[in-house]
Amino acid sequence: MERTLVLLKPDAVQRGLVGTIIARFESKGLKIVGLKARTFERSLLEKHYEVHKERPFYGNLVDFMSSGPVCAMALEGKDAIAVVRTLVGKTNAREAAPGTIRGDYGMSFSNNLVHASDAEDTAKFELGLWFSDAGELSDWTPA
Ligand code: CMP
Repeated sequence: MERTLVLLKPDAVQRGLVGTIIARFESKGLKIVGLKARTFERSLLEKHYEVHKERPFYGNLVDFMSSGPVCAMALEGKDAIAVVRTLVGKTNAREAAPGTIRGDYGMSFSNNLVHASDAEDTAKFELGLWFSDAGELSDWTPA
């Protein structure tokens, strides 16, 4: 089983799409093993997007992500990283295919509703950043 980090960005929260987007992941069969929502510290977002530090959009991205509540989720399932990326769609929401989350609900490159880990090493890094293994992630199996 694989775990991946998903962030529902401030635009998803502000547009009232949290339930709709979570339902996509749950309906697909992914398991929620961690979930929390609030406005997170700028320092956390700076670390999360460190890989983009030199890119021109970095400052705006960190501003946006720390501007309001984000819903952070740890999802588990077989090949969860790739499955979630397929459900989410292309980064530029205008180019994302219909049927994907960004394709169905987004029109923006930067405010693209969802972040999802893109590889095994980034998923490990990002899950460690957003959730403490000790109390914030649950191992569970259906009864
Ligand atoms: P995300 O999947 O969170 O990963 C990095 C984010 O940077 C991406 O989604 C977009 O929100 C943003 N991003 C990537 N490329 C661009 C770009 N060319 N212009 C603006 N924002 C971008």
